[in-house]
Amino acid sequence: MERATVIVAIDGPSGTGKSSTSKAVAAQLGLSYLDTGAQYRAITWWMVNNGIDIEDPSAIAAVAGKPEIVSGTDPTGPTITVDGTDVAGPIRTQEVTSQVSAVSAVPEVRARITELQRSIASDAENGIVVEGRDIGTTVLPDADLKIFLTASPEARAARRSGELKGADVQSTREALLKRDAADSSRKTSPLAKADDAVEVDTSELTLQQVIECVVTLVEEKRAGK
Ligand code: DC
Repeated sequence: MERATVIVAIDGPSGTGKSSTSKAVAAQLGLSYLDTGAQYRAITWWMVNNGIDIEDPSAIAAVAGKPEIVSGTDPTGPTITVDGTDVAGPIRTQEVTSQVSAVSAVPEVRARITELQRSIASDAENGIVVEGRDIGTTVLPDADLKIFLTASPEARAARRSGELKGADVQSTREALLKRDAADSSRKTSPLAKADDAVEVDTSELTLQQVIECVVTLVEEKRAGK
């Protein structure tokens, strides 16, 4: 018996192909798609824009409930707005990228964004692919399928510098490892593999191969295997 809805959690560090894979799998299977990193980037963008001291967790916590963050979940054209402003471009700047780990480590920020993520997932009629760092462990521990994507630091740095249109691989590698170390060591729901997640090492795989692998896993789950 095929199940009507399916909730897929895809976690892993940066540069493992999470976003491209999650979007393509959702599009192929007719599911919604949620990029939770974009939500943390959006709240970080708001903090920076409003002059909040990023070094001060209590200042961040005090205003964590203020910005209204709305995510559009169509995998062929995901959107993100803060208080009605389209921030899809600004959240990818170096300024936001370098501050997002500090903002997303604040428990009040995580509580707020986690609640939003759960409500989006429960509203997705056909099911959803949710990508992030703590989806399988904290946000959606009852997800039907949990995937943890990994890749060697070299493969991840090469992919990221390609995305950043030729940025230096060595400095990209350092920035990426620093962000992953911060995301993995924070106290509140760090980047971690859930015990029941399927680990896929993407270092030697093409994007198409990773997508096929995940689609197969979802289809097997839906078929009740
Ligand atoms: O996936 P990304 O690189 O856009 O994520 C940006 C940051 O957001 C990442 O460094 C850590 C944080 N994040 C998080 O703490 N929890 C998530 N579920 C997703 C992202």
